[in-house]
Amino acid sequence: MLFKIISYHIIVIVYILCVKLTTAKSPYNSSFTPEHLRYLKNETKELFKHAWNSYMEFGFPFDEVRPLTCEPYGPDYKDYSNTVRNDAMANISSTILDNLDTLIIMEQWNELDYVLEYLNTNQNNFFDKNSIVQVFETTIRFLGGLMSAHLILTDVKFKPRQTNNTKFMKILKNYDGFLLKMAHDLGLRLITSYRTSTNIPVPRINLANGLKSVPPALQKDACTSGVTTPVLEFTLLSKLTGDYQFEYFSQMSFWKLWSSKSPLNLMPMTIDPVSNQWKDSITGIGASIDSFYEYAAKSSILFDDKYMWSVFTTSYQALLTHSAQGGEGAMIFPNVGTQDGVVFSDWIDSLGAFWSGLQVLTGQLTDAIKTHVVYMKIWNYFDSIPERWIYAHHNKKNKKKKYRAEDSIELEWYPLRPEFIESSYYLYRATKDPMYLQIGERVLNLFQDRFKAPCGFSGIQDINTGEKQNRMETFVMGETLKYLYLLFDTNDEVFLHSSEMNSKNWIFSTEAHPLWFHKGLSEKRYNFGAQNLSSLINESSKFTPAVIKNLTIPTPFIFNIPDENGVISHIGKKDPFSDRFKICELNPLKKSFNSLLESSYYGWPYLFNSDHSFSKSLKKPPHIDKSNLDGSYIELTKDFYDKFTSFDTPLMCPRVHNTQIYEIFWGDIKLCGKTEVSQIVHLQPNITESIILQNDLWVPTLQGLRITFEELALGLVDSRNELITSDYISMIQSDEDEDEEEVKYKKKDSILRIKKINGVPLKYGSVIWTLPFAPNPEDKGAVRVTSESRVVIQGKVIENLLVWYG
Ligand SMILES: *[C@@H]1O[C@H](CO)[C@@H](O)[C@H](O)[C@H]1NC(C)=O
Ligand SMILES: *[C@@H]1O[C@H](CO)[C@@H](O)[C@H](O)[C@H]1NC(C)=O
Ligand SMILES: *[C@@H]1O[C@H](CO)[C@@H](O)[C@H](O)[C@H]1NC(C)=O
Ligand SMILES: *[C@@H]1O[C@H](CO)[C@@H](O)[C@H](O)[C@H]1NC(C)=O
Ligand SMILES: *[C@@H]1O[C@H](CO)[C@@H](O)[C@H](O)[C@H]1NC(C)=O
Ligand SMILES: *[C@@H]1O[C@H](CO)[C@@H](O)[C@H](O)[C@H]1NC(C)=O
Ligand SMILES: *[C@@H]1O[C@H](CO)[C@@H](O)[C@H](O)[C@H]1NC(C)=O
Ligand SMILES: *[C@@H]1O[C@H](CO)[C@@H](O)[C@H](O)[C@H]1NC(C)=O
Repeated sequence: MLFKIISYHIIVIVYILCVKLTTAKSPYNSSFTPEHLRYLKNETKELFKHAWNSYMEFGFPFDEVRPLTCEPYGPDYKDYSNTVRNDAMANISSTILDNLDTLIIMEQWNELDYVLEYLNTNQNNFFDKNSIVQVFETTIRFLGGLMSAHLILTDVKFKPRQTNNTKFMKILKNYDGFLLKMAHDLGLRLITSYRTSTNIPVPRINLANGLKSVPPALQKDACTSGVTTPVLEFTLLSKLTGDYQFEYFSQMSFWKLWSSKSPLNLMPMTIDPVSNQWKDSITGIGASIDSFYEYAAKSSILFDDKYMWSVFTTSYQALLTHSAQGGEGAMIFPNVGTQDGVVFSDWIDSLGAFWSGLQVLTGQLTDAIKTHVVYMKIWNYFDSIPERWIYAHHNKKNKKKKYRAEDSIELEWYPLRPEFIESSYYLYRATKDPMYLQIGERVLNLFQDRFKAPCGFSGIQDINTGEKQNRMETFVMGETLKYLYLLFDTNDEVFLHSSEMNSKNWIFSTEAHPLWFHKGLSEKRYNFGAQNLSSLINESSKFTPAVIKNLTIPTPFIFNIPDENGVISHIGKKDPFSDRFKICELNPLKKSFNSLLESSYYGWPYLFNSDHSFSKSLKKPPHIDKSNLDGSYIELTKDFYDKFTSFDTPLMCPRVHNTQIYEIFWGDIKLCGKTEVSQIVHLQPNITESIILQNDLWVPTLQGLRITFEELALGLVDSRNELITSDYISMIQSDEDEDEEEVKYKKKDSILRIKKINGVPLKYGSVIWTLPFAPNPEDKGAVRVTSESRVVIQGKVIENLLVWYG
């Protein structure tokens, strides 16, 4: 078949009821005055202190403290296959290693002094532990934590307010680089995982014994994140120590994987490092692959690496083409097949909440807001984010089925993951919209009331019932509370927000450790007996060579095509994606902004779209109905709403479209990455006679396209909020009447509008031009062209796809 339908998302309900506003509990009544923000910051610091003191009292020197029972917690030595517990614990006081920089950010100098003393005293053989850990988790949590603290203690000019503290002065004065030495030692233990015959690292090693004594069952599947992510920490470690092996091996693995992406430019999520084979053909943005994209973008920033940037932009474009779903007001990225592009999952995962933060960082602010708003709605209903949340229910048999919360919770736990608050932090820094502070206060309140435990904070084991987890992973302090604290640091008191740091091009690692690099750092390198590059190359010649392509950076192209008078010089084409990654968008919601004290969300017509698009999946679990903080939705908290709308703006609830949206593949989907979709540019803007307009798209062939259609049927409301009338439909079909030959085609009562083609959305009023094509016998007449040059498929005229006979 030439084209097939690959996904449906039907959006129902036309008129919206506005949900009632409810009251918040803060003494400051959502004012977000400087005083209020100081209060929120201090409250967050108090939460951190509660967690930290609990750990020091009941957990230290073990890895973690169990929040409900106040016991120390470490690896499961009896059961090696208990990887959930063992992957990030090795009896190495891991809570400390993951939180050195958190202590500095929170200015806990006494605590910092104490743990640095402890590490300094025990640094020799600190990692010589007979423990099997995951290379990825160990790299991002502990190697990253050590390097971050090292950078902060050696390369930041602190403010007098901070250096006035004698403890901190002493720490800075006495620091001799031992954390980097420990990082190097840890790195040497981890790098053994890369020395495989395939140059793909095995996922786990024994810290004391390397690959020995790791059962083969624990080495089978490496995830894409696991293989590619260490490239950032490892490259930095090489640059800071002069020992190149980390950079060498991790870069080789990264590029090897990238060079075996699918024809759709998508990377699968699991690979077997022993057999050198992909183990699945599915991709997405969440678990198992999330930090691959993140670190392509962040490596490009950290090391000024244009090849890494091209990996990010190529991937982002492929995801926009094949994975992105949702309409004007929402964006989700479910898993899709890497070979066929077919939507694979009806769920999205909790880890995917980080994506909007990455979108902010890479300049995709509109996309970031649309992605984030979905997670805000999930948070509204669950006071957390289920590990996997089902966004679509297709129940053909029972359309009237009443859905409950449990129907949409595919994996039911929430271990206090940071990603949603991380993204809210990025969005606040980019937009300064007070809505993100309101989100932060809501999360803070939940930490105080719901997540607080006798010894720290406990996540939720089962969102359906509210059952608690007896675990506080190191990222609760190291990421969740850190991002919350930084969100409230609106007056830029934390050193990370200083102008000195602004000039450093720093990034947060995927574990929220600030990292940066500049030439000065490699000059004052600490040398720990580095292995040089030539001996490494010699060593690696034993390995199966990895295919490292000479990547080319795509450049925007301009080719001329003739206009209707045969004049070619006026019209050009360009890659519709070419501008996307060159500019950083400003707040796109701010158009309707008329007061500094307004949240631009209230002028955004799509604020409630997600509630309706996902109405079957957004249900409160029964225990939250009873004990919800204030029974409210974040964006409908009365105090906030009253303060952050202009007084004459009623809450707008425009109608939502009820047309059907679906996607098709046209031709061979494997050609998708190669099929030209370009945007028309008028080189001389004063030319008026051309019928090809600025922003129209040019698609020379209908082979290898992924198209999102909106079906415009009589009486429905379309996504431009217009009622579809019979006049409109017959206007688009009109030419059929005049052409006698065409009369034989029976008219359908609906027409089609292309909304997106190979990831490129169509601007209002623009059309797509294609070249004349011969009918394909396989179609059996399903595709034809009207006398007005419109393309028709299966009897439905496409409003905005025209054949160019010029
Ligand atoms: C918050 O609102 C309550 C009730 O309107 C009022 O009594 C209180 O003073 C307000 N608090 C602040 C800090 O403005
Ligand atoms: C911070 O909060 C704690 C506990 O609520 C309080 O005792 C302390 O005075 C507060 N500190 C500041 C500076 O507001
Ligand atoms: C773990 O570390 C603690 C404290 O350093 C030590 O007492 C204990 O023996 C260690 N356990 C194992 C199994 O190595
Ligand atoms: C730091 O100490 C100096 C001298 O003791 C004092 O003048 C200054 O005000 C202090 N600065 C801050 C921010 O506390
Ligand atoms: C690199 O190491 C090899 C073997 O250890 C040694 O022969 C060679 O001289 C070294 N090269 C440099 C540039 O240090
Ligand atoms: C390179 O490898 C060869 C054989 O594998 C070995 O004889 C030689 O010493 C190695 N050279 C270096 C610099 O390590
Ligand atoms: C790789 O690219 C560089 C720069 O674009 C070029 O000079 C070089 O010849 C290319 N190498 C190969 C093997 O194509
Ligand atoms: C259109 O603009 C170009 C320069 O932008 C100018 O050279 C040309 O004369 C203009 N043509 C007309 C018809 O105004």
